[in-house]
Amino acid sequence: MNNNCNEKLCQLKIFIDFIPGLSYSRNTVKTILTVGSGKGGVGKTIFVANLGVSLAKLGKTVILIDLDLGGSNLHTCLGVKNRFPGIGSLIYKKEPGVESLLVSTDIKQLFFVPGDSLFPGTANLNFFVKKKIIKEIGNLVADYIVIDLSGGSYFNTIDFFLITKSGMIITTPETTAILNSYSFLKSALYRLLYRSFPRGSAERRAIYEFISNRIEGSNSSFVDLIDIISEISVESGEIFSQQLKSFFPRIVINRGHSKRDILLGSKLREISRKNLGIEMEYIGFIKEDPLVSGSIFQRKPAALLYPDSDFAKTMDGITRKLIQSPLPESQRLYEADEDLETMLQEENQG
Ligand SMILES: Nc1ncnc2c1ncn2[C@@H]1O[C@H](COP(=O)(O)OP(=O)(O)OP(=O)(O)O)[C@@H](O)[C@H]1O
Ligand SMILES: [Mg+2]
Repeated sequence: MNNNCNEKLCQLKIFIDFIPGLSYSRNTVKTILTVGSGKGGVGKTIFVANLGVSLAKLGKTVILIDLDLGGSNLHTCLGVKNRFPGIGSLIYKKEPGVESLLVSTDIKQLFFVPGDSLFPGTANLNFFVKKKIIKEIGNLVADYIVIDLSGGSYFNTIDFFLITKSGMIITTPETTAILNSYSFLKSALYRLLYRSFPRGSAERRAIYEFISNRIEGSNSSFVDLIDIISEISVESGEIFSQQLKSFFPRIVINRGHSKRDILLGSKLREISRKNLGIEMEYIGFIKEDPLVSGSIFQRKPAALLYPDSDFAKTMDGITRKLIQSPLPESQRLYEADEDLETMLQEENQG
């Protein structure tokens, strides 16, 4: 733990000890939210920083984690100096675990784990390190853990996104961003389903073949895959359907201008329901707001600098919805160190 954090983390531990049902143990009730996007630069980091502020304002203990390895900049949006070890130090075995990386912020109850800005070049994570990071995050204690990811469908990013079945996808209203969000969703779903079956299984082979056939031009739609898996065994078909049902991402349209932009979130939801067989929650529409770009120069989240602004009110609304929104049960995921990414990229282009 960083020295400047000692006192506040002690407060956090004490605070947690006094919440009924919450204790500083592995089995603490907490919500993990991952924040990804199909395209870079759509406002994930801004969203994560301001969501942290809104959650803390509502009395939640929050840990924000910068897992945008190779592009870490959450510290800038939070106004935290870039001098604390982060996930990069963990990767290079200079720190024992994620808990030792917690840094306090200006906001009581809001904590932060830096990324790899002190140790750049860690974007290509090895499988065991990724596993360790995910395990350690699962052991952290807070009401909410919010994870900022890099943009795009790189498979390590998708594996972090799948820490929860209810990750958030941020997009802007541009057509390219919306299409990339759909591709991101599809890649996440394929990987989720692939990881639902053990290594070397007939189900994994079938999923792999299905993607290959699609690249080669087969007309089968994603939902046909349920029948293919069910033919292997009824039980596998059931696992597949359960995973589809429990995958419940949330979509946020950011930097919107018009009514047409508002409708895009609903359209993306409808297309995903029809083509991928999944439900999504359209949880927020955030307008383009010059206060947001201005807040970056001041190195503070806009929701903190301007608590009465429309932006802050929108963030508070999204936060309240998130708190009320139920989380589906998680099913077991097996490991997969191989990469479907290259294939999926081809499929998404098809
Ligand atoms: N609602 C908004 N209104 C105005 N500007 C915004 C808004 N949201 C984000 N921005 C601008 O978009 C830029 C990119 O935001 P941000 O860094 O959060 O994107 P990102 O998705 O995290 O990018 P990356 O994929 O590179 O990590 C910011 O510099 C900010 O100025
Ligand atoms: Mg970012």
